[in-house]
Amino acid sequence: MSGTSYSGSGSVTVTLDGSNRTATLPLLQGTIGPSVADMRKLYAELGIFTFDPGYGGTAACDSKITYIDGDAGVLLYRGYPIEQLAEHSSFLEVAYLLMYGELPTPAQKAEFDRGVLHHTMLHEQLRSFFNGFRRDAHPMAVLCGVVGAMSAFYHDSLDINDPEHRRISAFRLIAKVPTIAAWAYKYSIGQPFVYPRNSLGYAENMLYMMHAVPAEEYTVNPVLARALDLILVLHADHEQNASTSTVRLAGSTGANPFACIAAGIASLWGPAHGGANEAVLKMLADIGHVAHIPDFLEKVKDKNSAVRLMGFGHRVYKNYDPRAKIMQQTCHAVLAELGIKDDPLLDLAVELERVALHDEYFVSRKLYPNVDFYSGIILKAMGFPTSMFTVLFAVARTVGWVSQWMEMIEDPAQRIGRPRQIYTGAPQRDYLPMSRRT
Ligand code: SDX
Repeated sequence: MSGTSYSGSGSVTVTLDGSNRTATLPLLQGTIGPSVADMRKLYAELGIFTFDPGYGGTAACDSKITYIDGDAGVLLYRGYPIEQLAEHSSFLEVAYLLMYGELPTPAQKAEFDRGVLHHTMLHEQLRSFFNGFRRDAHPMAVLCGVVGAMSAFYHDSLDINDPEHRRISAFRLIAKVPTIAAWAYKYSIGQPFVYPRNSLGYAENMLYMMHAVPAEEYTVNPVLARALDLILVLHADHEQNASTSTVRLAGSTGANPFACIAAGIASLWGPAHGGANEAVLKMLADIGHVAHIPDFLEKVKDKNSAVRLMGFGHRVYKNYDPRAKIMQQTCHAVLAELGIKDDPLLDLAVELERVALHDEYFVSRKLYPNVDFYSGIILKAMGFPTSMFTVLFAVARTVGWVSQWMEMIEDPAQRIGRPRQIYTGAPQRDYLPMSRRT
């Protein structure tokens, strides 16, 4: 499945001004999307690096997993449009698709589900790690810590060069992250941990572990389970975003998969990335009322305010994030199912979106709602505390991280990631003894 499958499509010639030195760089073309100039010989031929802070114009790898057309607002998982997967698929089927590249047959799906559901429990000693945290610890801190600790428990699956070790580690991570996430929530509210029930679906099991208590029977609302499963599908993978690139860079050193996914969790936590869903709810609370929207947007446009319209803008999408559209539709369905006639937060968000999309500042910068703009409203309506929003994003993205990590490890061309720099610090100089420093 892995290995290069791009084709040559011409070349790019780079000429250094003031000299007759040139380098001819091959142009490579993938299945769809922009060609890439192969820069690997540039330094050897011209003694120069490329400069691309934030990697906005740099293809860091050859991948077959996810494709985004930011201008057209297209998102494909292994070639399938996110809209079709959202309507017809499920999270575990999408997990299989992302990991193995094709939709599963009924037998393959049944075996995959068994493989995941067989690993939902945690080693009993992992419970002790929760007790080391304060009760008010952010659940992302707990998730990051406990996932990282898994590398101390599964010594039988740390050899990244062994395909069976990679497979079992992938299943353990996909299966156990919901349990860790649910237990982080239970720990924060002082309730006992609830063990997974493998007779339940993936999203259903997570809701069960979060909301059931030992003292009574608990049945998960199937509409909420379906809504959560859809939210997990929408968040499963997204090309080489910051947290996925973190996982790939950590994995390129040969670090074990649990450490790599813990690094991805840490990266996702940032408010510019996966932490934005939590930040959107705080932003809406700060705005408070539709009458305050104009003043808030003036603050956003004031460069000195450092205030951003959270849930808007994207490094790649310069059009509507297709996930945001699906999320908005799901929002209305979930609120209707919960009998919530009008949710002031949703009303405020819809009006904020309407005003922003008619404001030249946002239109001229092609700033549209992204996946995080509506997700928090749904999750809050479903009873998730704000602090759990990014945790749910991490539960979903674990599938993408694992799939991208496996693809990288199996790529014969992969090497340790080691970017260079442009150095603007002090030129070489001699040590100055203390006696001569003034
Ligand atoms: C995710 O990469 C992925 O795929 C991520 C993700 C995934 O699935 O993995 O899609 C998930 O992280 C979604 C993004 C969630 N983050 C937010 O909603 C936080 C708010 N958005 C931003 O901070 C910002 O838009 C980023 C971080 C998402 C993108 O940053 P860029 O590409 O570096 O954009 P930029 O800073 O270059 O912005 C260009 C201009 C700037 O103005 P000028 O300097 O040209 O005057 O747009 C402005 C920015 O100031 N701008 C915003 C803005 N986002 C960009 N202004 C106000 N509010 C915003 N949200």
